[in-house]
Amino acid sequence: MTRHFISLSDAGGDGVAAILADAIDRKAARAHLPKGTMDADAPLAGRTLAMIFEKNSTRTRVSFDMAIRQLGGTALVLEGGTSQIGRGETIADTARVLSRMVDAIMIRTDDHAKIEEMARHATVPVINGLTDLSHPCQIVADLQTVLESGLALPGSQWAWLGDGNNVLHSIIEAAGLFKFDVRVAVPEGYEPDPRFGDEAQARGARITLTRDAVEAVSGADVIVTDTWISMGQDHAEAKLAAMMPYQVNDALMAAAKADARFLHCLPAHRGEEVTDTVIDGPRSLVWDEAENRLHAQKAVLRWCFGQLGE
Ligand code: CP
Ligand code: NVA
Repeated sequence: MTRHFISLSDAGGDGVAAILADAIDRKAARAHLPKGTMDADAPLAGRTLAMIFEKNSTRTRVSFDMAIRQLGGTALVLEGGTSQIGRGETIADTARVLSRMVDAIMIRTDDHAKIEEMARHATVPVINGLTDLSHPCQIVADLQTVLESGLALPGSQWAWLGDGNNVLHSIIEAAGLFKFDVRVAVPEGYEPDPRFGDEAQARGARITLTRDAVEAVSGADVIVTDTWISMGQDHAEAKLAAMMPYQVNDALMAAAKADARFLHCLPAHRGEEVTDTVIDGPRSLVWDEAENRLHAQKAVLRWCFGQLGE
């Protein structure tokens, strides 16, 4: 069966654990190599990845491109605006055509329904490079970063501050797979989709919602935030004002554990969701987190091609 990676649950807890182990091992094994050099075993030699972007990207684009190169394959990019998708060719027809020419498809799109449609009609793996609903590839990198920092996932305490968005949805999904707790501090009207919390709790995670940023970070091991205005959303002053009490700054970090780690998927809006002192401070892991997009995406690709997991 074709392995799509639309959500973390597509791989399941064991699959994501296998992806994380491979990402960590492969990163260590090639630490001394120039970035443009292939891994010695070139496990995806001869494979081509098509990347479709209907929204901007720096990390996702570069990490997938470098990932497939290091694994021995190649990538090509289709921009929404310059491909026929931008003129109305259907997602289903695009999926059928690309499946005849490439070995896998990564898509970043505004509407999650589009990626589900793509997966229904593609006969090659389809990977979620971010939708309005979720960002699973980012969270694989986040989990890798937390593991590499020496924190075990089960039972760890995470705090999310700000907007209840796509990145948070995937963190909550990960919490269900790895049994960690997430305290979500968001202003009224910006809560995450409750389906994610319900499912994670059914799997054994504890997801709690609060309006109090200090309460959320008290005793937390991992503090996470993201932009207050995601791609495709209006730049509303009212939203920015509502988010201000959830800014991750030194005062808030002081309420977390002394060794609490700070994560942000980037790009950051310094002075909004996070201050310079925190993102550039000693507890910030954001540059490791960004680098791990590359290592994580390599392992996701290998999983899609049946090289990892059961
Ligand atoms: N974090 C992330 O997905 O970054 P890009 O938007 O630059 O791809
Ligand atoms: N929540 C952000 C993540 C960017 C990587 C967005 O969707 O724009």
